[in-house]
Amino acid sequence: MRLEGKPALVTGGASGIGAATARRLAAEGARVAIADLDLAGARDVAGELDGAAVEMDVADAGSARAGVAAAADAVGPLEIVVNNAGTDRFGWFTATDEEMWDVVLGVNLRGVLAVTHAVLPSMHERGGGSIVNVASEAGRVGSQGSAAYSAAKAGVIGFTKAIARESARFGVRCNAVAPGPIDTPLLNSAPEQLGDLGARLRQGMIDATAVRRIGQPEEVAAAIAFLASDDASYVTGQTLNVSGGLSMW
Ligand SMILES: NC(=O)c1ccc[n+]([C@@H]2O[C@H](COP(=O)([O-])OP(=O)(O)OC[C@H]3O[C@@H](n4cnc5c(N)ncnc54)[C@H](O)[C@@H]3O)[C@@H](O)[C@H]2O)c1
Repeated sequence: MRLEGKPALVTGGASGIGAATARRLAAEGARVAIADLDLAGARDVAGELDGAAVEMDVADAGSARAGVAAAADAVGPLEIVVNNAGTDRFGWFTATDEEMWDVVLGVNLRGVLAVTHAVLPSMHERGGGSIVNVASEAGRVGSQGSAAYSAAKAGVIGFTKAIARESARFGVRCNAVAPGPIDTPLLNSAPEQLGDLGARLRQGMIDATAVRRIGQPEEVAAAIAFLASDDASYVTGQTLNVSGGLSMW
């Protein structure tokens, strides 16, 4: 199997894309630790895979450090890290405030930095590893109703490139995926958060894809597993759109 015995960490693995990724990595042989704010949900997914569950708030650098250490204790020195935890608060930018920016940037951007900062020194020391960051098409094309989120995800794409350059000489690769509209609680909460406007924003993203359908978490997980694996040994610093052709660059 492609990931046989490889210790892996998936943040935000209790739900959606993260849960599908944890299942996919485990199916390919990885030993998977799932880190999430939602410890009960992480335990449920970990239980299915004979994996480990860790409580982690990626927005808190101390919690990220402790969670990374606990994950490595449970499954072994981490060779694969999927920075997937994310959140959004839908609404027009003019109606947002600093508190909202802190939450959205804290989880989606600082969270990726915090977990990467905790894990990179040991990857460098051991001379190998693969990091996959879950960005978004929002970070490429901008998503109305998600301005802070779009800024955070564009930040993740830039961060991915910088880490790929800094880490290549240590044998560590760093890539990102940019999902389009994916059928998960995060996207499906838009109508709950914003009513009819949220429903229209969600549908607008689906209509913007070339394939004119919503994506499934397993379709993103398959791309993440490729980037995490040695099949992508000559691929680093890239952002792979998994978006039914929403954007094509
Ligand atoms: N669903 C989409 O349409 C879509 C599109 C593009 C990108 N994404 C990205 O995919 C990733 C996964 O999202 P999803 O759609 O599966 O959503 P989801 O809501 O199903 O899952 C997100 C998970 O992250 C966890 N989480 C949230 N804040 C956290 C924190 N501070 N620390 C640790 N865990 C935290 C949640 O508890 C949850 O288990 C996110 O980064 C999201 O931005 C989603």
